[in-house]
Amino acid sequence: MKAAVCLLPLLLLAACAPPPAAPASGTDEPHRPRFHFTPDSMWMNDPNGLVYFDGEYHLFYQHYPDSTVWGPMHWGHAVSRDLLRWEHLPIALYPDSLGYIFSGSAVADSANTSGFGAAGQIPLVAIFTHHDPAGERAGRDDFQYQSLAYSLDRGRSWTKYRGNPVLPNPGIRDFRDPKVIWHAPSRRWVMVLAAKDRIHFYTSPNLREWTFASEFGAGEGAHGGVWECPDLFELPVDGGPETQWVLLVSINPGGPNGGSATQYFAGTFDGTRFIPGEGFGGQQAHWMDAGRDNYAGVTWSGIPQADGRRILIGWMSNWDYAQTVPTRRWRSAMTLPRSLHLRRTPGGLRLASWPVEEAARLRGPAVRTALPALADRHPLPASGALRELELALSWPGPAPAAAGVVLENDRGESLRIGYQPAEQQYVIDRGQAPRQAFSPKFAGIQTAPRIAAGDTVRMRLIFDAASAELFADGGLTVMTSIFFPEAPFTRAYLFREGGGDVQAAYTEWPLQPVR
Ligand code: FRU
Repeated sequence: MKAAVCLLPLLLLAACAPPPAAPASGTDEPHRPRFHFTPDSMWMNDPNGLVYFDGEYHLFYQHYPDSTVWGPMHWGHAVSRDLLRWEHLPIALYPDSLGYIFSGSAVADSANTSGFGAAGQIPLVAIFTHHDPAGERAGRDDFQYQSLAYSLDRGRSWTKYRGNPVLPNPGIRDFRDPKVIWHAPSRRWVMVLAAKDRIHFYTSPNLREWTFASEFGAGEGAHGGVWECPDLFELPVDGGPETQWVLLVSINPGGPNGGSATQYFAGTFDGTRFIPGEGFGGQQAHWMDAGRDNYAGVTWSGIPQADGRRILIGWMSNWDYAQTVPTRRWRSAMTLPRSLHLRRTPGGLRLASWPVEEAARLRGPAVRTALPALADRHPLPASGALRELELALSWPGPAPAAAGVVLENDRGESLRIGYQPAEQQYVIDRGQAPRQAFSPKFAGIQTAPRIAAGDTVRMRLIFDAASAELFADGGLTVMTSIFFPEAPFTRAYLFREGGGDVQAAYTEWPLQPVR
């Protein structure tokens, strides 16, 4: 987040009390997602401390429990066994004399390198940024530094390390969001840290003492804003045996459709230095998700090798308008958890995202239909706001100007998602509905270039009460977008625009809520 974004809500908060909480989740909360994670109440931004331990996926998150706008950051906490149903737990980390608790990661220190373990208990160790608001106000540059906390009871209670901070600030204003991984070949911990618009790598034998290793980022990728919330992991290429390292870097602003977004690099990492591979050096940026609403996404540590997945969850909002979206009791949701994959394409290596298999458990009965000639408007069978659609489109003759799907309600509001063959791009149009007046930056059209080749355009779409997630071409092009209609979008239809000879085949499922 930019300092200006942080400070404004703080000033406002000093002047006014937090708004009263509306009643708990239910029909009075039309924009409450029904199968995406939301805090029970109040403000949430980035996912933090993602770690799988003892059968539980931990999801910590940036949280301000006293208001629905950003403020002094805590780590909220929830756990899940299936990545769909989340149990809210008490706040894990509170601000302290060293500052607010900004974003970071968590690991299970199974060899007890930190020495925090006791009597056979594996410590969970959280590595986070302390942000000192007094230092920031005083105009200092060194008000962000890295600290530790640990838990010996499956994340239920946390002790801050007495030696905090473990990584002092070297004089860099934006110096935050440590992601720590175990680098097996060098038998050391590696910290990946956002430092202004660079990534700094540090190493440590024990999580407590850190040594600077290298810097990455000058002249690489997008630099339209500050770099935040990095992640680093190794992935098989097309399922293996070759592997490459992926470096995720969130950036705000400077996203492809404005505001916040996450870029990625693929390359090599030897334990100290990341070197971008072919097609990733230089200024071209590659986006993990080109939609407006997937930010600060990071991946779980500790997922057993037998599972082998690299699972990411992102904050489903954008700093452009996150603090003014029209929800009352809480603000913000997370994306669906997604598994990440590296695919070799004609243009080079690309990252693909795909909803975790568990998401298929939400599906009701499928309806499958093949349409040899798509009309301008073809109503979809499922009713209700929650639905999933797999759509294959092709044009053996003349191409349409666009084809895809529209969601709508009786108030004349709609959301349009489609593909434009001439431009070879996917498009999401949130329209100009009055409910969107909360921010001039919210309405409008988002686009993403098609990455795959081939005659058939394939889209998988997952709709919750207030979000659409588009996974196109097997997840190579992804767009996540939230929306806030006056009334739920309970109807949907396929559209064809500008004539053309369109063949469509689709499978549609109504989705079951988990809350
Ligand atoms: C990203 C971010 C992080 C920071 C946190 C503060 O959205 O700005 O860089 O740690 O949010 O809440």
